[in-house]
Amino acid sequence: MSKENVPTQHERPVAVRIEPWGEGDLPLLQKLLGDPKMMEHLGGPESPQKIVDRQARYERLTADKGRVFKIITEPEAEAVGWVGYWVKTWRDETIYEVGWSVLPSHQGRGIAAMGTALAIARARSDGKHRFMHAFPSVDNGPSNAICRKLGFTLVKARQFEYPPGSFMECNDWRLDLVASG
Ligand SMILES: CC(C)(COP(=O)(O)OP(=O)(O)OC[C@H]1O[C@@H](n2cnc3c(N)ncnc32)[C@H](O)[C@@H]1OP(=O)(O)O)[C@@H](O)C(=O)NCCC(=O)NCCS
Repeated sequence: MSKENVPTQHERPVAVRIEPWGEGDLPLLQKLLGDPKMMEHLGGPESPQKIVDRQARYERLTADKGRVFKIITEPEAEAVGWVGYWVKTWRDETIYEVGWSVLPSHQGRGIAAMGTALAIARARSDGKHRFMHAFPSVDNGPSNAICRKLGFTLVKARQFEYPPGSFMECNDWRLDLVASG
C-alpha cells in the first residue's frame, strides 16, 4: 500500500461508548456550542455565559428529565461529542427530544450515529416514554441522514421559533422506542 493510501487515525472506523456528562466537560461543550460553524443549523453559537449555564444544567440533570452523554471514541478514549435526550411536551404528548453534536475533526466517521444508537438503547431501557423525536433543520444533511439510518420516521417539516425571535424549518422525525426495540 502506498503511503497516500494508508488511512490516517481519523479516517479509520471507530467504536464509541457513551458516558454521563460530567463536571470536567465544560471545555468540550464550549468547543461544540461556541463554534459558529457547528451551530449554523442551530440558530448560531451560544454565548460563553449560556454555555456555562448549560453545563450547570447538565451536571444537575436527573433521569426523570433526561440524560446527557459525552461520546468517547475507542480505543483512543477521546471525548469528541455530545448526545442527549430530554423530556418535552409535544403536541399534547410527553416525548423525548434527542440531539447530537460531534467535533468537526471527527465528523464523517459514523460517530454521531453510533453514539445516538447507544443513547436510544438507554432511553428504551429507561422505559418511560414511547416516542423519541428529533427536529433537525431541513438543511442539516448529516442529521437527517442519521435519523433515517437509525429508523426514525419522517412525520413532516414544521416551522420552529429557535432561538426566540428566529424561525427555521425543521423536520419532525419520530422513533417508536417500543416497536423498534
Ligand atoms: C450532525 C453531526 C452530529 C453529524 O456527525 P457525524 O459524526 O459526522 O455523523 P455520522 O458520521 O454518524 O453520520 C453522518 C451521515 O450523514 C451523511 N451525510 C453527510 N453529509 C451529508 C449531506 N450533506 N447530505 C446527506 N447526508 C449527508 C453521511 O454520509 C453519514 O451517513 P452514512 O454513515 O450512512 O454514510 C455533525 O455534523 C455536527 O455536530 N453538526 C453540528 C451540530 C448539529 O447540527 N447537530 C444536530 C442537531 S439535530
